[in-house]
Order: sequence, then structure tokens, then C-alpha cells
Amino acid sequence: MKSKLVIGNWKMNKDFEAAEELTTAIQEAIENINLKTEVVLCPPFPYLELVTDMADESNFNAGAQNCSQFNDGAYTGEVSAAMLAGMGVTFCIVGHSERRKYFHETSEVIAEKVDRLIEQEIIPVVCCGEVLEERQAGRHFEVVEAQIKEALFHLSKEKFEHVVIAYEPVWAIGTGETATPAQAEEMHKFIRTLVEKKYGTETAYNSYILYGGSCNPSNAMDLFTQEDVDGGLIGGASLKSGDFVAIIEAAETAVNEN
Ligand code: 13P
Repeated sequence: MKSKLVIGNWKMNKDFEAAEELTTAIQEAIENINLKTEVVLCPPFPYLELVTDMADESNFNAGAQNCSQFNDGAYTGEVSAAMLAGMGVTFCIVGHSERRKYFHETSEVIAEKVDRLIEQEIIPVVCCGEVLEERQAGRHFEVVEAQIKEALFHLSKEKFEHVVIAYEPVWAIGTGETATPAQAEEMHKFIRTLVEKKYGTETAYNSYILYGGSCNPSNAMDLFTQEDVDGGLIGGASLKSGDFVAIIEAAETAVNEN
């Protein structure tokens, strides 16, 4: 089994002091471990410099939660991919369901953000996932397929190889209701098959497909031992160092046991 990727999405949480405390606690917990798992912390923009500085001397990476679809110019309040790259940010979440819902991000905009990030050699972590009504209506595969095709399938194979996909069923985000390991695996396999049809077997195998949605220390291991679950995009549990480190440990164990 290939090594895992565990990403913490802090969303809009923590004051500066608490952000520093959390980053330090994670750093101290993992600094002496020869980690196979790749760890990424995605704080809010104002704390990125803190995290990129600490990432320089640590075995984790710094990621952003969003970026602009534009290169530069008169876009008040926006942050470009080039600015992130200049700070040493190496990952960026794109198309999170919260951005689709509250900020009306469309697949078209998401595809543009993916392009800007790849131009700056930042790995886009592209989110997809159905809402509850779509799952209840049996439309979850169709919805996720459209999201992936619209956001990513304009990319050449070479560029696609720099992308991470995160499957986050919207009904599982922040609700405490996790997808069962079987539900996660079924969707991850479906996504990998889509990638295989478009880009070939090797690219599909090498692609990272993460699960997100109420992932915590008690369910991480069962999710991460699924064949097509390559790690997690963690929200609430990434805000507590003990929980986040336990999830990283589950990722390490899942790889070692397989
Ligand atoms: P929770 O882990 O809080 O459900 O959030 C998942 C998520 O949205 C990560 O991007």
C-alpha cells in the first residue's frame, strides 16, 4: 500500500495564539517520528506565515484553504496562487463544499483555480461530494462524476499527476455522521476508475484520493485500510492536536499493516 496523506483543514477557526499552540503541539508530537505519511496543515490565511516558517524545520507542509482564480490585479480581498507559492505554501484546497455553498463557487471557477495553482507548482486538493438529497435519490455517482470531470478533466495527464482529490460527502461534514468504510471505498473506487479511463492505469494508481467528513481517531483506521482511501481531509478533529496526531498514527499503522 502506498503511503498516506493527511491534511488538516482548520477552516475559519482559532486566534493567533491558539494557532501557534496547535502548530507547535503537532510539530513536537511528530518531529521525532520517521513518518511515511505526508502531513499538511491548512490554517486561515493570516496564520500561513507562521505555519510555513514552522514547516521549514518540520516534517509537515503548509497548505491554504482557497486561492483566487485570477493572476493579479484589482480583485479586492483575493489572494493569488503566486502569493501563496512565494510564501512556501505547497498545497491548496479548492472547491470545498462550503465554498460552493456560501461563496457560489462553480466548477468553472474551480477549474480555473486548479490551473493557477498548477502554474505555481502548488498541489490542488480538489473537493467533490454529494449532498444528502442526492445520495437519497441515488444520484451520488453521477454528481461526483460531473464535479470531477468539470474541475479536472481539462488537464493534460502530466498536469493531472499533480492533483489530489478529496471525496467529502456533504452530509458527513461536521455532522458526526461518517460515511461507512464501505461507502467511502465504493466512491473512491468509482473515482479511481474514472481517472483510469481518462489518464490510464498508472496515473490512476498513483493518484491520491482522500476521504473527508467526520473523520476522527476512532474511525480513521477503518477508513484508511480501505484499498482506495489514500488518507484524509480532516476538519473538526484537526483542531485538537491529540486527535490530529492520532489520525496521523492511524495512517501510519494502516500502511504498515498492509
Ligand atoms: P469535519 O471533519 O469537521 O467533518 O470536516 C471535514 C471537512 O470539511 C474537511 O475539509
